[in-house]
Amino acid sequence: MKNTKIVLAKRPIGLPKLNDFQIIQNDIDLVKDNQVSVSTMYLSLDPYMRGRMSPSKSYTKNLEIGEVMTGEIIGIVNESKVKNFPKGSIVLSKAGWQSNPVVNEDQLSLVDSRIDPVSLALGSLGMPGLTAYFGLTKLGNPKSGETVVVSAGSGAVGATVGQIAKSMGCRVIGIAGSNEKINYMTENLGFDEGINYKDSDWTEKFKISCDQGVDIYFDNVGGPISDCVIEEINDFARVIVCGQISQYNNFEPELGPRNMHKFLIKQAKLEGFIVFRWEDQYKDGLESLLDLKERGFLKYKETIVEGIEKAPETFLKLFSGDNLGKLLIKVN
Ligand SMILES: NC(=O)c1ccc[n+]([C@@H]2O[C@H](COP(=O)([O-])OP(=O)(O)OC[C@H]3O[C@@H](n4cnc5c(N)ncnc54)[C@H](OP(=O)(O)O)[C@@H]3O)[C@@H](O)[C@H]2O)c1
Repeated sequence: MKNTKIVLAKRPIGLPKLNDFQIIQNDIDLVKDNQVSVSTMYLSLDPYMRGRMSPSKSYTKNLEIGEVMTGEIIGIVNESKVKNFPKGSIVLSKAGWQSNPVVNEDQLSLVDSRIDPVSLALGSLGMPGLTAYFGLTKLGNPKSGETVVVSAGSGAVGATVGQIAKSMGCRVIGIAGSNEKINYMTENLGFDEGINYKDSDWTEKFKISCDQGVDIYFDNVGGPISDCVIEEINDFARVIVCGQISQYNNFEPELGPRNMHKFLIKQAKLEGFIVFRWEDQYKDGLESLLDLKERGFLKYKETIVEGIEKAPETFLKLFSGDNLGKLLIKVN
């Protein structure tokens, strides 16, 4: 058995290219004390990984050239020298883009047995779900009847944000980049409106859809979409900056924000966050998400591609919008 791993070969300029990654195969490392050998079932592909490939300073350490690409996996323990993670355990780890990593005990946690299918531990019942839950409830403080707008509304985070907001009695408008995604949001997820930002008249349609104004904007994308939404905010609106995916491949940062006057005249709040802020409350967050799922508020879709060697080309789907819901690689 070999371990296939994908490392950063070059720092991308703009959208990553396939030769920015390198696929390497080695023998599986020997398992030492306090370690387990894991057979990866699913690898999560997430937008933040683009930031780790850059040299610019961020909220955490960036990758070095030659280092294994960052990422969360779910896997099954094949061999163990740790009492709490015996052979057969299903574990979550930040082992990165690897098929058969050997992982230290302190980099492992058990996947809650109520998470079914287990892949949800990387999606709506994992980091993206917790991001949606804490970002919306802690910073948005949604009240019944308020209008919530979410960009990248059909994605792993956005779909969860919209459904939590619906469960709290809000009116939800999702913004996304295809008619398939708009139908998914309105027909499957229960959003009140969906706006395709690729339609030439989308700004007019958006203004009509939020004629009551916007109380909460959960921003996953930044750029011109956010400029348009912020123009419609109400008094005491909350703008939650979760992600800025439209900017991640920019070599030069776009200038902005351009509409700060709106925050002044509407006495609104703009706050960014990183989900780790609530790491000590993840257990409670998971209970709330499981409860929402039981009540039918956590529908999801996954785009699953087979084969770890497909991870680089699949990662690019996040930037072209070719994923519907959580993007995963099925590994072993
Ligand atoms: N703050 C945190 O702690 C935290 C944690 C997790 C994720 N995030 C952020 O949350 C956001 C969503 O993450 P996710 O994992 O749920 O990804 P996702 O929404 O499942 O996938 C990314 C989506 O972004 C959209 N997109 C890509 N380029 C765009 C552009 N130029 N303009 C507008 N939309 C664009 C695409 O959908 P369309 O077809 O709709 O364009 C794509 O499908 C990302 O910005 C991510 O960095 C933040």
